[in-house]
Amino acid sequence: MEHKSTNITWHSSTVTKEDRQTLNEHKSAVVWFTGLSGSGKSTLSVEVEKKLHQHGVRTYILDGDNVRHGLNKNLGFSKEDRTENIRRIGEVSKLMVDAGVVTLTAFISPYLADREAVRALLDAGEFIEVYVKCSLEEAEKRDPKGLYKKARSGEIKGFTGIDAPYEEPVAPEITVETDRQTLDESVEQVVEYLRNKGLA
Ligand code: PPS
Repeated sequence: MEHKSTNITWHSSTVTKEDRQTLNEHKSAVVWFTGLSGSGKSTLSVEVEKKLHQHGVRTYILDGDNVRHGLNKNLGFSKEDRTENIRRIGEVSKLMVDAGVVTLTAFISPYLADREAVRALLDAGEFIEVYVKCSLEEAEKRDPKGLYKKARSGEIKGFTGIDAPYEEPVAPEITVETDRQTLDESVEQVVEYLRNKGLA
């Protein structure tokens, strides 16, 4: 994206990310949930956050529906707008990681290149991609917001999985299959990974 500001300098503070992590007694990273609408991203992120919080981990969730009410309310669902949505979330996530917070994000983030751009913003090991895998059939059966129905009838155009693409992760750190495993199993799988990485 074009850089419009000139004459700006980056200010580093004397308190570093590492100082904040030491104070928190855990590292920080982004746990990036990606998957179809209705795959279970939000539900899973909420449950994982609950577990982490109980263990004294500083956390924050950035969620698609919520961020689109504020920071990204000027964005729609065209390819360009989705890319800009994810770019902004990536930048916010980077700040949150710098603040020492384990940040959980729940966005469809359907384009591989957009997710990889966020990964590239962060230091090694700080981007943990969780593929919330669920068949379109199952997601459509759940249809918690009735959006698949609207997409099928043509009321919503460009809906992910129907007439807009979802590019599956190639090498995600974690894959949970929400149409094959229970919510508890998926939560435990994610928390166990984070524990092993010093994040829980
Ligand atoms: S994206 O693709 O990452 O920019 O999307 P995201 O910010 O996660 O927003 C997805 C939620 O917006 C609702 N919604 C749509 N999703 C997909 N395609 C279209 N056209 C669309 N229009 C509205 C939908 O409720 C998504 O929420 P989830 O929680 O994923 O079901």
